Amino acid sequence: MRISIIGAGYVGLVSGVCLSEVGNRVICVDRIPERVQSILHGISPIYEPGLEDLLRRNLKNRRFTATQDLARAVKESDITLIAVPTPSRNGAIDLRYVRAATREVGHALRSKRAFHVVAVKSTVVPSTSDTIVRPLLQESSGKKAGEFGLCANPEFLKEGDAIKDFLRPDRIVIGSDEERSFRVFKKIYSRFHCPILHTNLRTAEMIKYAANSLLASLISYSNEIASIAEAVGDVDVVDVLRGVHLDARLTPFLEGAVSSLRGRLSPGIISYLKAGCGYGGSCLPKDVPALCTLAEKRGYEPGLLRSVISINQQQPLRLMKRLSHELGGLRSKKVAVWGIAFKPDTDDVRDTPAKPIVDSLVQAGAKVSVYDPFGLEAARKTLFQDTPLTYAQTQFEAAAGAHALVVVTSWPQFVNVDFRKLASLMKKRAFIVDGRRVYERWSVLAAGLRYLGVGYRESEAA
Ligand code: NAD
Ligand code: UGA
Repeated sequence: MRISIIGAGYVGLVSGVCLSEVGNRVICVDRIPERVQSILHGISPIYEPGLEDLLRRNLKNRRFTATQDLARAVKESDITLIAVPTPSRNGAIDLRYVRAATREVGHALRSKRAFHVVAVKSTVVPSTSDTIVRPLLQESSGKKAGEFGLCANPEFLKEGDAIKDFLRPDRIVIGSDEERSFRVFKKIYSRFHCPILHTNLRTAEMIKYAANSLLASLISYSNEIASIAEAVGDVDVVDVLRGVHLDARLTPFLEGAVSSLRGRLSPGIISYLKAGCGYGGSCLPKDVPALCTLAEKRGYEPGLLRSVISINQQQPLRLMKRLSHELGGLRSKKVAVWGIAFKPDTDDVRDTPAKPIVDSLVQAGAKVSVYDPFGLEAARKTLFQDTPLTYAQTQFEAAAGAHALVVVTSWPQFVNVDFRKLASLMKKRAFIVDGRRVYERWSVLAAGLRYLGVGYRESEAA
C-alpha cells in the first residue's frame, strides 16, 4: 500500500520505517524542516535502538521517504495516518495539532478522486474521531463521509522497544464505523501475525486509554504498597511484591514443568508491579488525566484513576522529603541525580520524575549535579532552562563530593556501579537514594555508604 504519515516523531517515524520494512511505500510528513532533512540523510532525530539502521535500509531501497509537502504526500498515497502530538492542557486533551493536521489532509483530499482512508494513530479520547475528525475532514475536503474512509488505529509501542513492538505487535486495534474503511486499511498490516481487533471508532480509542490506565494503576498500586511498607517499618516492598508476583495467576506454571520454582512464565506486566519514584514519559502522565477529564465532563467521577494520578505526583516528593529528613535539611548539601530520561534506552525527558525531584532539591537550597547518558541535551533545552544546575560529563563527576546520590533512571551503567569507587568519591557516609530499587542494600552499606530506598525503612525500634 502507499501510505502517508503526518508527524515524523516517535510514533510517526517508527511506524513509517516499520511499515516500509514490511513492503509498503511510505512517505512521512513533518513541518519541521531540520527533522525532514535529518531523516532524508538517514539520521534519526530521536534516539531509539535499531531505528537508524532500519531508516537507512528503507531510504536506500526507496520504500521510505520524508517531506514537508503534506498535500503531495496525501495525493500520492492511498492511506494517511495522523501521528501528531496530543498533549495535555490543564489535564484535558489538547487537540490543536490533530485539528490542524486533519484540516490540511482534508484540503489535500479536495482534488483527489480515489477512495482515501484517513486513520488517527495519535492517542485521542473516545469520540474524537467521529465528533471532531470526521466533520473537519468533511468540511475541509468538501466530501461526504463514505467518499473518504475513517479509522482509529491506536499505537501501543513502548519507547526503547519501539521497533520490536511495532514489527511484532501483540495486537492491532482498528476502529471504523463502516466496513469499507476497515477492509482497505487493514491491508497495511497484511504481513503481521497477531490478532486484529475490529471495533467501532470510539471503542478503539477507549482501548488505548484503558491499556495505559491499567499500567499507571499497577505502578501507583505498587507505590502505595511501598508507602505503607515505609510507614510500618522493617517491611521491604521488593520482597512483598515478589510474594505477590508468585501468585500463579500472575506468573503461571509452564506447561509440563515439574517444579514451580523454575517452570514459571514471567509476563511483561510483572514489570509494572514494582515500586519506584513514579511513572513518567510522553503518554501515561497525560493520558490518564485526559481520560479522567473526559469522564468528568460526561458526568462520571473516576475516583480510582484520580488516586492513581495523585499517588504518582506525590511519589518523587515523598522520597525527597525522606532524604531531607535524613540529611537534616538540604540547604547547601550537594546532591547528585543519576538519570533524567523517563526510563532507560530513550532520550525522552517528557514528564520525567527527575523534574519534580531536581526542582524540589533546588528549591530546598541543595546544589544539584545531574548526569544522564542521553537525556542531558533535552534536559538543558526543555526542562531546566532557568534552574541553577551542574551538568556533569560522567556519572562519577556528578557524584564527586556529594552528600547524596538519587538514582532516578535505571540505566545499566547506574545499576552495575562499583560502590567502593563511589564511596571513595562521595562525602563520608553519603546516602544512596535508590529511586528504582535496583541495588542490594547490603552492598551499599558494605561500601560504607548509607541506603535510602523506596518502600523500605528501618523501624525506629530496630
Ligand atoms: P512527537 O512529538 O515525537 O512527534 C510528533 C511530530 O508531529 C513532530 O515531529 C511534529 O513536528 C509533527 N507535527 C505536528 N503537527 C504537524 C502537522 N500539522 N504536519 C506535519 N507534522 C506535524 O509525538 P509522538 O511521541 O510521536 O506522539 C504522537 C502521538 O502518538 C500522540 O498522540 C501520543 O500520545 C501517541 N503515542 C505515542 C507513543 C510514544 O511512545 N511516544 C506511543 C503510543 C502512542
Ligand atoms: C507506555 C506503554 O507501555 C505503551 O504500551 C504505550 O504505547 C505508550 O505508553 C504510549 O501510549 O505512549 P512508554 O511511555 O514508552 O510506554 O513507557 P513504559 O515502559 O510503559 O514506562 C512508563 C513509565 O512507567 C516509565 O517512567 C517507567 O519508568 C515507569 N515504570 C514502569 C514504573 O515507574 N514502575 C514500573 O514498575 C514500570
